[in-house]
Amino acid sequence: MDSKYNLVGGKSCPKFPTKKPATVVNFGSSTKKARLDQRPTEVTKLGPGTLLQQRKSLPVYGVRNRLISEIQKHSTVIIIGETGSGKTTQIPQFMHEVRLDKNGIIGITQPRRVAAITLSQRVSQEMNTDCGAIVGYTVRFEDVTSECTKLKYLTDGMLLREAMLDTLLMSYSIIVLDEAHERTVHTDVLFGIVKQAQALRDEKLLKPLKIVVMSATMDVDHFSDYFGSVPILYLEGRQHPIQVFHALHRQDDYVFSCLVTIFQIHQDAPANQDILVFLTGQEEIEAMARSIRLIVKDLDGKCPCLKVYPLYSSLPSHQQLDVFRPTPQGMRKVILSTNIAETSVTISGIKYVIDSGMVKVRTHHPGTGLDVLKVQRISQAQAWQRTGRAGRESSGFCYRVYTFQEFDAMLKNSIPEIQRCNLTNVVLQLLALEIDPLTFNFLDKPPKELVNGALQQLKQLGAIDTVEGTKLTEMGHQMALFPLDPRFSKILLSAKDYGCLEEILSIVALLSSESVFVIPPSKREKAVAAHTKFFSSSGDHITLLNIYRSFSAVTQKKQWCHENFLNMRNLQYASEVRSQLAELCQRCKMQMSSCNQNVDQVRKCLVTGLFMNIAELQRERQYLTVESRQIVAIHPSSVLYSLHPHCVLFTEVIQTGSCYLRQVSQVDPEWLRDIVPEYVQQHRLLTLVS
Ligand code: CDP
Ligand code: MG
Repeated sequence: MDSKYNLVGGKSCPKFPTKKPATVVNFGSSTKKARLDQRPTEVTKLGPGTLLQQRKSLPVYGVRNRLISEIQKHSTVIIIGETGSGKTTQIPQFMHEVRLDKNGIIGITQPRRVAAITLSQRVSQEMNTDCGAIVGYTVRFEDVTSECTKLKYLTDGMLLREAMLDTLLMSYSIIVLDEAHERTVHTDVLFGIVKQAQALRDEKLLKPLKIVVMSATMDVDHFSDYFGSVPILYLEGRQHPIQVFHALHRQDDYVFSCLVTIFQIHQDAPANQDILVFLTGQEEIEAMARSIRLIVKDLDGKCPCLKVYPLYSSLPSHQQLDVFRPTPQGMRKVILSTNIAETSVTISGIKYVIDSGMVKVRTHHPGTGLDVLKVQRISQAQAWQRTGRAGRESSGFCYRVYTFQEFDAMLKNSIPEIQRCNLTNVVLQLLALEIDPLTFNFLDKPPKELVNGALQQLKQLGAIDTVEGTKLTEMGHQMALFPLDPRFSKILLSAKDYGCLEEILSIVALLSSESVFVIPPSKREKAVAAHTKFFSSSGDHITLLNIYRSFSAVTQKKQWCHENFLNMRNLQYASEVRSQLAELCQRCKMQMSSCNQNVDQVRKCLVTGLFMNIAELQRERQYLTVESRQIVAIHPSSVLYSLHPHCVLFTEVIQTGSCYLRQVSQVDPEWLRDIVPEYVQQHRLLTLVS
């Protein structure tokens, strides 16, 4: 261990066994699966050759004709192939080349917006067209497609929205449900929706709908059974042996352990062998990126130059694309990624994977009604996916900063989102499709409490009349029009009653984008001082409003953002989101209105959708959430952090060790009695309002 590591703290460093038998990621075949011949895999390192050469070197390329003929023959097929084998970028092109899209477009769903964007850009490049022409993408608040688009990469959530306008999905000839193994709520629900659309189109003798399900993991029998034993096509992967090392001792701080492991590798490994580190989220990744850059400055000249690339969903797409560029000779890339690099995107050149063993997931507790973002252990299936990233081009190494015993104790597979997430949004969408969520043919049924919890919340929000009811109210229909959490749709729709639609639009738009604050560690004080002038003692929501108002008023936006330590790109994104939401409001025949300086109206309006998210001060800094009875604190990033008012409304709870409330505003308990009297009575919120 080099003394330089002390720069990052004096803790004990992770130790890995020096020699251990290699564990090879096994992508063995199964007799049940139709096997496609494997091409000889002579290419191990992709040079700066042409895109066509790169395409030809992918495992799917050699089995193109077999694949096409199977897809032509069957109305539904399932394709399994190791991440990076070319499923997402190539198979849609193959289908296009044989004109399978002559009667309608090919839609390829992705669980993540980043993936939809970068993949469509990559495929446009490969087809030598502009993105938005033959190949395009649609993600929330952004539609880059045109009349001539044939290959459309879109998020699963967007396809679900399209189904609300046309349950038969008539503009599509083929729907590819990609990354099916990720089991997001939207993909799970789409299984039912596309299956129904396919059956109805057959029944009505309309043009057929072909369904292609793609997965990077083997356990797809479940998918096949769901569609009635459809064929499974198995793509032989190109997986090289990977040596897997577990930490010998339990680590207290996985972030620190990952950091140390990076430098252990960096000092020994030759240049151009890149490192991929799996972490949990933006803040953690950015903090580690800073630490690495600091340490690198102090390393002697013997090591290759080390360049850090963060990778997470909310990173601007041009920065995400940087990650895919080949590493210049004599250098090393270290990519710090969330689970996005597990299967969604493939990066070449990775020789080493460092797995923190952790992931950030959103979990809903039906008992308490609370949605919590929490860092937790991954599943064994995820651990193997992460490991696999090291053996794409040649043999590799995977360092798990957890012990074998800890690995052994992990769940075999991750719990599908539909069994752990808040379903209010999806239930509202199903109801808008006139589908009863209690009888819907789900791939895996969600727990009853989750569906009932969602129905209960929709009733509280006024979207349905009774909890047993499956009919939407007028308000419910309008809420379903917005691509937002139903609580925010409700707030927008209530804004007319409070005369503050202008203000609510700005706040909801800002809450839909990434943080607008820029705090460079070297200029922390200056940045905070700049932000202070927007602060409102009533809370974060009005603070955001102040920022948006000033941003709209200035003409020299770039300079203004720079001076005020604000992220211009995120503010511009928010402004686009805002105009789209404003259009939807117009469609609902809502009049524009502004409360000007009377911003109490804004906070009252927030209560109409977020009344379940109220917390009350117990003692110094400690709050109790009224509905879920949980002990929480205001997040240090909030303007209310040091003010701790008696009663607050919050946007979300995150759990990182303790539970924190994020995006918080002060509210008057009396407002609750006026705005949601029934709720106050039902929940006996008397202590609060007496
Ligand atoms: O879907 P699957 O994981 O099977 O593979 P893919 O996403 O189609 O990726 C195939 C290849 O294209 C990968 O090996 C990547 O190196 C490359 N690719 C890229 O260079 N840039 C992208 N934005 C996407 C893919
Ligand atoms: Mg893919």
